[in-house]
Amino acid sequence: MIGWPTTGRYRAWLTACFVLSAAGHPGMAGQTSADNIEAEVEAILAISADPAYGAYLGGECATCHRASGAAPGIPQIAGLPRDHFVLALVEYRAGLRDNDVMRTTAARLKDDEIAALAAHFAAAD
Ligand code: HEC
Repeated sequence: MIGWPTTGRYRAWLTACFVLSAAGHPGMAGQTSADNIEAEVEAILAISADPAYGAYLGGECATCHRASGAAPGIPQIAGLPRDHFVLALVEYRAGLRDNDVMRTTAARLKDDEIAALAAHFAAAD
């Protein structure tokens, strides 16, 4: 009979292959890689976002990030180019940037919210 051998040994080999390939591709194991970050940033930049919604969401950011100029220890985000802004938030969300407040803030932002915030702040000065 022609077909896939179903011996235990073959199945063990298949399992080993799967485990090894998953280990070789962090994305498959549910971890974050540079590729994932890049893909997330691309996807968010592709969303057609509403700056007015971003302005609404961004109200809470202004407690720390002043409308213009940097406060001590807090970078200015008004006027940041969208790609820089989105990358920063995606990295905080993934835990790749080390700031507790920003990690917590970014963790609850969905892609469309990040896109809207980026559109708003890029246009702000
Ligand atoms: C409690 C204060 C606080 C709040 C609220 C806050 N941030 Fe931040 N944010 C910071 C600090 C402090 C940093 C710099 C942290 C660091 O050094 O990584 C930062 C960094 C950033 C950066 C990276 C800037 C850069 O050029 O690297 C972005 C983008 C940003 N915040 C966006 C936001 C947005 C959007 C919101 C609202 C949804 C927000 N932040 C709310 C304190 C805050």
